[in-house]
Amino acid sequence: MDFELKTLTRARLCTEKCDALVVLVPLAPQMMGSHADPVSELVALAIKSGDFEAKAGKLLSSYRPAGLAATRLVLVGAGDGSAKNIRLAVTAAMNSLKNGNHGSHFNAKRVLLSLSALNEVDAPHASAAVLACGDAAYAYSTTKSKAAVASFEHVVLAVTDAAKVKAGFEKGLGLAKGIALAKEWANRPSNHATPTLLAGAAKELHKLARIKVEILGPKEVAKLGMGALMAVAQGSSEPLRFIVLRYDGAAKAAAPVVLVGKGITFDTGGISIKPAAEMDEMKFDMCGAASVLGTFRALAELKPQINVVGLIPACENMPDGHAIKPGDVVTSMSGQTIEILNTDAEGRLVLCDALTYAERFKPQAVVDIATLTGACMIALGGVRSGLFSSDEDLAKALMAAGESSLDLCWRLPLDDDYAEGLKTNFADVANVAGRAGGAITAAKFLQRFSSKFSWAHLDIAGTAWKSGAAKGATGRPVALLVDYLLGQAQLNNSAAASPAAKPRKAAVKPAASPKRPSAKALPKTRAA
Ligand code: BES
Ligand code: MN
Ligand code: ZN
Repeated sequence: MDFELKTLTRARLCTEKCDALVVLVPLAPQMMGSHADPVSELVALAIKSGDFEAKAGKLLSSYRPAGLAATRLVLVGAGDGSAKNIRLAVTAAMNSLKNGNHGSHFNAKRVLLSLSALNEVDAPHASAAVLACGDAAYAYSTTKSKAAVASFEHVVLAVTDAAKVKAGFEKGLGLAKGIALAKEWANRPSNHATPTLLAGAAKELHKLARIKVEILGPKEVAKLGMGALMAVAQGSSEPLRFIVLRYDGAAKAAAPVVLVGKGITFDTGGISIKPAAEMDEMKFDMCGAASVLGTFRALAELKPQINVVGLIPACENMPDGHAIKPGDVVTSMSGQTIEILNTDAEGRLVLCDALTYAERFKPQAVVDIATLTGACMIALGGVRSGLFSSDEDLAKALMAAGESSLDLCWRLPLDDDYAEGLKTNFADVANVAGRAGGAITAAKFLQRFSSKFSWAHLDIAGTAWKSGAAKGATGRPVALLVDYLLGQAQLNNSAAASPAAKPRKAAVKPAASPKRPSAKALPKTRAA
């Protein structure tokens, strides 16, 4: 599918040939002047007759309406015209064209999507429209014998002032590519997305501008002392991979943001095996990893001036004769020993070694992204991802990026009292606490490995994929991550441009703030 941005007056909408003309109609349309064009007249009539209302997502379709060059006209309500409602409206309209109530031979290849009737169209609105189109156009077909019928070959986004929204339009295009890549790899079943294949997907990205990729295997990982990652991988015959991506968009000396994505390509639970129902969905346990790949794909398109490192510990969690057993103690790369009381709490084990590895980049911030806990899904459902951070500025920046990208998150607490349950008599720390506050205790575990930098954790267990009839990956939180990185690039730049500006706080942060436990100091006090 390709996109085009065009300035078209409402009068011009009628003369453009296309398979479908989609018109977003706000609750208070500007379009009902005395010399109304045919589209405006139709909208006014439909509203007056009560056949249509402009509530976000409401639809009215018609075939070859008089005075229009389009084969089909779809009116869709856009409510107050906010970016959120534009997304909702475009999704409803495009889905209705894709698999709606028309004959099975109708295929809307050329779509004219008009925002011209909306009162205020800015960059975020254009971006939201493009993203919603991209989302609707994506169809998984990799493991089907027939390729999906390509819908929407050419989409023209019509606005009254193309120049005004060009930046938002282009951001949407870059982001859509990243989101599509994230969805694709997340959706692939585990036998088509092994750690080795995932590393291959990462390797492919080196062809893109400013991206470098390095893949470590079992030997290199053993040499680094990543005992926690190795422990999870040892029950599978698929060899682990540790993927290191770099996006070099700024000066070499500029401290990077490090993204760490959980890459469990299948989570059986290991010896603490999961129940059979819905276990297939554990192929999505590498959605964090997929979001890192998708973010890098988008970075290559958008080319912000920032350095970003992506780390993906990838392996399967399987229960064979070599598998770790409850009660086993392993030594992480940080030196901290971990008692594995539940082999199903494997995400934090692979992440903790990746977090320790992140130290070598002297990062300005580290954000890990993981389908970490069922508890987070219970707490926040599918609307907001869980956000944890011991750094106020980082938490604020991620929260704001979630709001601006419509890829929402919500901050949860990290009080030290939540770590009580991780105490054990047999190691520095246990990998699980009780059932209560499961999303938080998981974050508390990760925090022990994050004392040397400014850190945040996104638990995307509820948001990374949908279950049921619409089962599939959402591509979240690629949009959030990209908005955050674009924002950081801007901040770094303005700090560099103004000589009076102090260096960014996070970049020169001392090893540990008093609130956060030092990785070295903690184990001893805990064991006492
Ligand atoms: N990948 C799962 C988390 C998960 C489960 C995400 C269901 C989405 C849906 C993770 O590895 C896991 O199994 N977590 C356990 C932790 C528990 C053993 C402390 C969980 O959430 O049950
Ligand atoms: Mn698990
Ligand atoms: Zn898992």
